[in-house]
Amino acid sequence: MAEGMEQNGGLDRQRKIAAYEQVSQAIEATLEGETDLLAAMATVVCLLHHAFDTYFWTGFYRRMGPERLLVGPYQGTLGCLEITFDRGVCGACARSGQTVIVPDVHQFPGHIACDSRSQSEIVIPLRDASGAVVGVLDVDSDKPDSFNEVDREELEPIVAMIFGE
Ligand code: SME
Repeated sequence: MAEGMEQNGGLDRQRKIAAYEQVSQAIEATLEGETDLLAAMATVVCLLHHAFDTYFWTGFYRRMGPERLLVGPYQGTLGCLEITFDRGVCGACARSGQTVIVPDVHQFPGHIACDSRSQSEIVIPLRDASGAVVGVLDVDSDKPDSFNEVDREELEPIVAMIFGE
């Protein structure tokens, strides 16, 4: 297979990078001067969700206690309201402070199936200006193996824009 043509959820690498560059610019322009957290989260979720066919559920969970996440702005089908740190991919991300990529949710111990159509996902930590994890961005796909290192590299700086980085 030629370079840049590897399959990944129907998008090859170069097309995926180009799509992220476009949506990243749109997010940056839209968030310019915005300091409200809820408005910023809703904007990021909306623009990302509609930029990729593979994004089946896109949303934030906010840290609302030492080990508790509560759903925030999202697009997609009904999401679970509350996730504790010991559960799910979101919990693993919030616990470790690291992005988690899950090619097959059925192989992830403790995965929470808010919608049984979800097949793969990526969860990125959201850090405030002090570096503390204050939430996560959860993106679920209804196709297996939709996310890889490209998504991690592109999504981490997008999530960082929430707190103005
Ligand atoms: N996928 C998540 C649960 C949240 S929903 O899918 C919206 C998890 O296992 O952490």
